[in-house]
Amino acid sequence: MKHLLILLLLVCTSLVYAADAEQGKAKAQQVCVACHGMDGVGIDETYPILAGQYADYLERALMDYRSGARKNAIMAGFAATLTDQDIANLALYYSTLPENRLHSFSIK
Ligand code: HEC
Repeated sequence: MKHLLILLLLVCTSLVYAADAEQGKAKAQQVCVACHGMDGVGIDETYPILAGQYADYLERALMDYRSGARKNAIMAGFAATLTDQDIANLALYYSTLPENRLHSFSIK
């Protein structure tokens, strides 16, 4: 019985925090696309590539912008509007995108 309760608790907790890439995509296309591009590769060199980065790295970056631990005037403003769930969704979404710019480099 005790094990069942623990299992139930784990299942419930994972449901609450489950990230949703589709919702992340919707948010990304409303807000982040202006700088990070449709494919998460950034519209120019100023904007870091988000596509294909580890989700926990992206999540941590967004949490840090929001808390002020990582300082950047632009990203602080955007991160301030995000909930924990938004951050998890966005991080998962960008982590699923293929990172393609590095692949186009060639050694001459
Ligand atoms: C107005 C342009 C702009 C918009 C819109 C924008 N960003 Fe950014 N983002 C930047 C810039 C510039 C940086 C680099 C900041 C720095 O040097 O720390 C950055 C950095 C980041 C990083 C850190 C990447 C890394 O490799 O450390 C993440 C994650 C990120 N943005 C996610 C988002 C998300 C998610 C959204 C939408 C909610 C968003 N950004 C909207 C300009 C933007």
